[in-house]
Amino acid sequence: MVLGVSGGIAAYKACELLRLLTESGHSVRVVPTDSALKFVGAPTWAALSGQPVTTDVWTDVEQVPHVRLGQESDLVVVAPATADLIARAATGRADDLLTATLLTARCPVLFAPAMHTEMWEHPATQDNVRTLRARGVVVLDPAVGRLTGADTGRGRLPEPADIFAAAQALLARGAQPLDLLGRHVVVSAGGTREPLDPVRFLGNRSSGKQGYALARTAIARGAEVTVVAANVALPDPAGAKVVRVGTAEELRTAVLDAARGADAVVMAAAVADFRPAVRADAKLKKTDSDPEPIALVRNPDILVELGRDRAHAGQVVVGFAAETNDVLANGRAKLAAKGCDLLVVNEVGERRAFDTPDNAATILDPEGGATEVPLGSKDALAHVVWDLVAARLSAT
Ligand code: CTP
Repeated sequence: MVLGVSGGIAAYKACELLRLLTESGHSVRVVPTDSALKFVGAPTWAALSGQPVTTDVWTDVEQVPHVRLGQESDLVVVAPATADLIARAATGRADDLLTATLLTARCPVLFAPAMHTEMWEHPATQDNVRTLRARGVVVLDPAVGRLTGADTGRGRLPEPADIFAAAQALLARGAQPLDLLGRHVVVSAGGTREPLDPVRFLGNRSSGKQGYALARTAIARGAEVTVVAANVALPDPAGAKVVRVGTAEELRTAVLDAARGADAVVMAAAVADFRPAVRADAKLKKTDSDPEPIALVRNPDILVELGRDRAHAGQVVVGFAAETNDVLANGRAKLAAKGCDLLVVNEVGERRAFDTPDNAATILDPEGGATEVPLGSKDALAHVVWDLVAARLSAT
């Protein structure tokens, strides 16, 4: 594969990415830009990759590297991708070895941008990113955090381990088409917490693992992903926009907002059906007498709202249902009551659903179909969900 490195301070993090790639057995040719070499020198890349390093198209001309590298690669990863590199790639420039390689590559291409927040948010960069995504390039959203100086914001390079995971996921897809390319999907994940007082809440056992698996796999299939995460303690899925929420009402606001421009919404979060009618301002004290029962009020059903008030015709709405008994009968009734297009029904039990790496499910649709997904990884289940979502999207 080719690891393209453009000229940003995050170039030093690409050394760690390179190690992860080579140690997992990949043969990696590093193609830096001239500016990248101002941050990390050619000997470092050559030593770490065990391959020659050139930035221009005039070295080893007899091997026609400006065509051969792109043609022979299984994957091109550009990390960090600066605003300038993104602009040059979007306009089809071929003025150095990396941009020439990008023009000749017919394999999956993954960009991990890193730049200051203002540069990332500038309409020029956003237009260029849209152009690249429309052409099939998987562009990760930069992470939020510390930037070069003391400033913080969106624009940080995703962690090398996360870029590595995204690269592995793209390679695992092999020649399969990026069927969510150009699609925007929203995934809710985790479990809501409804406060009783400043230190206590009513919550549930959802970890967010299934929601994050949905986000990761959608990115690997080319989607732009917004994750609405309720109390999730996992590292952010690389390349997704993550909106953090606590309560069901906050989740509702964030999901409905993100759903406006989305092609699909998947409600994997475990949402509290009720919340305490009163949230005490101060910590509740124990008393000698028996405590008063806690009065609860209903929370809005977000999935019902999404199914009823679609942001646009053709939007696909997916729900999850965790059931302990009469799984399929309860699932069918819930699918009808929620008005969604697909309902992923889990039987809650040992090694399934909550806070485990594995899951099994039956995915119901309103046409009477039922897709069985045997016990396997949450990523495997997520891929089946996206297979069905992609099929419904392409049918409209
Ligand atoms: N859901 C929601 N808003 C709620 C409750 C649930 O959007 N207030 C969504 C969940 O994200 C999930 C689906 O509805 O996708 C089903 O959640 P589940 O808890 O199984 O269903 P409930 O409607 O709460 O039914 P019950 O708890 O009675 O089984």
